[in-house]
Amino acid sequence: NGLMKVWKGKSHDVFSPVCLEKKTGPTRVLVGSYPVCGEKEALEALDAAENAYDNGRGEWPTMSVADRIKCIEKFTQRMIEKREEVAKLILWEIGKSYTDSLKEFDRTVEYIYATVDALKDLDRQSSGFQIVDGIAAQIRRSPLGVVLCMGPFNYPLNETYTTLIPALIMGNTVLFKPPKHGSLLHFPLLEAFAECFPKGVVNSVYGRGADIIPPLMKSGRINVLTLIGSSKVADQLKKLHPKVNRLRAILGLDAKNAAIVTANADLDQAVKECITGALSFNGQRCTALKIIFVHKSVVDEFNQKLVAAIGKLKVGMPWEDGVNITPLPEPQKPIYLQDCLKDALKHGAKVLNENGGEVNESFVYPAVIYPVTEKMKLYREEQFGPIIPVLPFLRIEEPIDYLIDSPHGQQVSLFSSDSEELAKLIDPLVNQVSRVNINSQCQRGPDVFPFTGRKDSAEGTLSVSDALRSFSIRSLVAAKL
Ligand code: G3H
Repeated sequence: NGLMKVWKGKSHDVFSPVCLEKKTGPTRVLVGSYPVCGEKEALEALDAAENAYDNGRGEWPTMSVADRIKCIEKFTQRMIEKREEVAKLILWEIGKSYTDSLKEFDRTVEYIYATVDALKDLDRQSSGFQIVDGIAAQIRRSPLGVVLCMGPFNYPLNETYTTLIPALIMGNTVLFKPPKHGSLLHFPLLEAFAECFPKGVVNSVYGRGADIIPPLMKSGRINVLTLIGSSKVADQLKKLHPKVNRLRAILGLDAKNAAIVTANADLDQAVKECITGALSFNGQRCTALKIIFVHKSVVDEFNQKLVAAIGKLKVGMPWEDGVNITPLPEPQKPIYLQDCLKDALKHGAKVLNENGGEVNESFVYPAVIYPVTEKMKLYREEQFGPIIPVLPFLRIEEPIDYLIDSPHGQQVSLFSSDSEELAKLIDPLVNQVSRVNINSQCQRGPDVFPFTGRKDSAEGTLSVSDALRSFSIRSLVAAKL
């Protein structure tokens, strides 16, 4: 890429989770390299974003909504030309299947178009005047300043853009740091940003987060921090800002979403949803089902069906058709998952399926672990991998108490065919989490729905239209009549 041709500093080689057989044995494929910026470059990028914002007087924050939309639309056209190139980079960098990599790309393009439509609606609502007590007022949405965006490795394009695009379109300037796994795929789009937006409006900074993010936060010049990642990191970063009361944080964080399968559930449907809910992209989704409570009277039948369904999954390379389980990008993850398994076995659980939890290079075979108890790591820790902890319950209060005691509060899946039972449970559940999925898996989409969480799982709300509100302030132009 052009950037690496001009970069004179240190660089970082990116290796794929995909291992290919070489003379020396299985070897991770080298995908490319990116520049390793330090504090100096990070602060220069911040200067550029701040200069472009120019305390709200810059070309971008004062540009009409219609003109900002033109820039975004032009960018999207350029982006579409890069579809296959970006999807292939997603595949190689994070091991996501090619089909899902293309889906991630297409979902992002759809998200941008939906955001443009939502902004047009919002702008129509703001264009009129209200007259109250002799004051004519126009209620607008105004930008907040410089936004620092950090997306996660599991949706390196989509979840970077679900914050970057709304932040941008509302007139903010942006500084984004791509995730460690999933960074090269942004390169083909950097030129399009430079071509479609005024200078300094979109800036990227590559390198070790631990080196470049703290100086940015400590500078006190970041107005909005947006991060889809870990609750611990978000907490640490917020604390670095010298005036945290002036910082807005829009965060999508840890989650330990539970499924509750009652005695009245359609078990075939519950198993189908739990399989995709727990194992899509190898369970590496914040919305993944990470623990399953099943009523004692049906748990054996549920487990048999779950094990049979897992047996039909295809473990393979991300370019293979119909592949379900692919290599994991984080080199330490197989070790962590095996540690969780050992801990569960030590405390009396069993792996119910053949090969469950086995590691082969960067592959981890999906595992059903039963019965999980509160002594085990898998009971509370967010495994973020292809391991399904199952536990039996007798009284419905047991899974509800689990949710009440949890530090997380993103989503829950409730399986029952009894409408009266469902009706009774919805309120207690929706008061613990931010979304209750009836007879279906947990998920973020469709993207027009609000995406948030309670407790340590989120701050602020994302979705096509909520994000526009999150990255702006409701302001007033008022004239005395
Ligand atoms: O990792 C968290 C993502 O927001 C999950 O999104 O439910 O669309 O896969 P998804």
